[in-house]
Amino acid sequence: MAVVTDKRHRLAAARFIACLIALFGLSRATVAWADSPPDGATIAHQGNGHGVAPCMACHAADGGGMSAAGFPRLAGLPQAYLRKQLDDFADGSRADPTMRPVASALSEAERDAMAAYYSRLPPPSAVAPAPPTGEAAQRAQLLATRGRWSAGLPACEQCHGLGGIGVGEHFPPLAAHSAVYMANQLHAWQQGRRHNDPMQLMQRVAAKLDEADIAALGAWYAAQPATPAKETAP
Ligand code: HEC
Ligand code: HEC
Repeated sequence: MAVVTDKRHRLAAARFIACLIALFGLSRATVAWADSPPDGATIAHQGNGHGVAPCMACHAADGGGMSAAGFPRLAGLPQAYLRKQLDDFADGSRADPTMRPVASALSEAERDAMAAYYSRLPPPSAVAPAPPTGEAAQRAQLLATRGRWSAGLPACEQCHGLGGIGVGEHFPPLAAHSAVYMANQLHAWQQGRRHNDPMQLMQRVAAKLDEADIAALGAWYAAQPATPAKETAP
């Protein structure tokens, strides 16, 4: 009997020690993580080592994007907007076959780090050398600044700011996005692939635009500077 009790004591002691070791290990892991939170610049240039390709492969080293391919600029976009898009790609409310695997393989902390990193990079200058001319220019300017009230379409500026430079954290800039990317987004809303917009604000807007509007607006905003002219002047 005495031997059995002794064995039980030893077993309990061994379990207690195993518990302590596990706890110690866990706290060490937590401390290690706290010492080195994910680094946005490293992931942007080298990937995260867990299946995420370097962002710069598509969004360029300066975060300016690649216009012709429809890879958007990330540099200078609002931090909360960037963070939300990564969640939206991962949960499919913004369905994109290229970004879904990327966003899904980023941890919460890595998504935070990427949003912080890109929001702090200086935005690129306009991606098109000159705005459209003639009919396209008139059409774009009217839609951007006044809307089309006969069709219940508000001006883009009302939410996206003067010149499309963006308003606060949740109305992203349109300036310095390529015409290809703009068209991809407007089509994605029309076709229901992107339905991550609060109160369906953009689904309603996109539904009222035709192909000529989309082409004109894309060319127009691609030529707008990402920051107002007075701020970029030397
Ligand atoms: C293989 C190419 C590729 C890689 C690598 C890639 N992206 Fe993207 N990214 C895209 C494409 C294409 C889009 C546009 C998707 C669409 O049309 O909706 C996009 C869009 C985005 C957007 C939305 C921008 C906006 O204005 O709404 C964010 C944010 C983003 N990517 C972040 C990242 C981050 C962070 C990384 C690296 C961890 C990364 N991407 C790596 C191709 C890529
Ligand atoms: C009533 C407010 C409102 C109006 C008016 C509006 N937008 Fe938006 N737009 C939004 C919001 C909000 C988002 C961000 C959605 C999200 O969180 O993904 C957005 C996002 C966008 C994006 C995506 C940007 C990116 O980086 O992916 C494009 C492109 C866009 N809007 C184009 C337009 C155009 C063109 C017009 C005018 C014809 C317009 N919007 C008018 C509210 C508006």
